[in-house]
Amino acid sequence: MTVSGFPGPRPDTVELAVADTGRGMPPDVRERLFTSQSISTKKGGTGLGTKIVKDVIDLHHGHIIVESEEGRGTTIRFTLPVSQIASSRSHAGNT
Ligand SMILES: Nc1ncnc2c1ncn2[C@@H]1O[C@H](COP(=O)(O)OP(=O)(O)OP(=O)(O)O)[C@@H](O)[C@H]1O
Ligand SMILES: [Mg+2]
Repeated sequence: MTVSGFPGPRPDTVELAVADTGRGMPPDVRERLFTSQSISTKKGGTGLGTKIVKDVIDLHHGHIIVESEEGRGTTIRFTLPVSQIASSRSHAGNT
């Protein structure tokens, strides 16, 4: 799994991406992932894990998307607003 961080699409946002090279999702699972009709392929799973993540991101006025290809892997990208972008200078000053 690879976690990456970037400046977001607007100056007061950050974007994070969590990528894996796992089995990926079939289209029906991917399309419903962030809905209350989400499908779980896990034994005993509810399918609600990522729906809850989306709801939390929405409540923080962020955005979340999934890119997934069967047999290749999955990348979840989300943006969140930030109140202040820390510069490397202020980070160093806090140590
Ligand atoms: N990174 C991933 N790679 C491949 N499939 C995934 C990935 N993340 C989610 N899925 C698919 O989406 C389904 C729904 O995922 P989600 O995390 O919302 O619920 P769950 O893990 O199945 O159940 P629960 O939330 O109860 O633990 C999973 O069952 C799986 O089929
Ligand atoms: Mg899960």
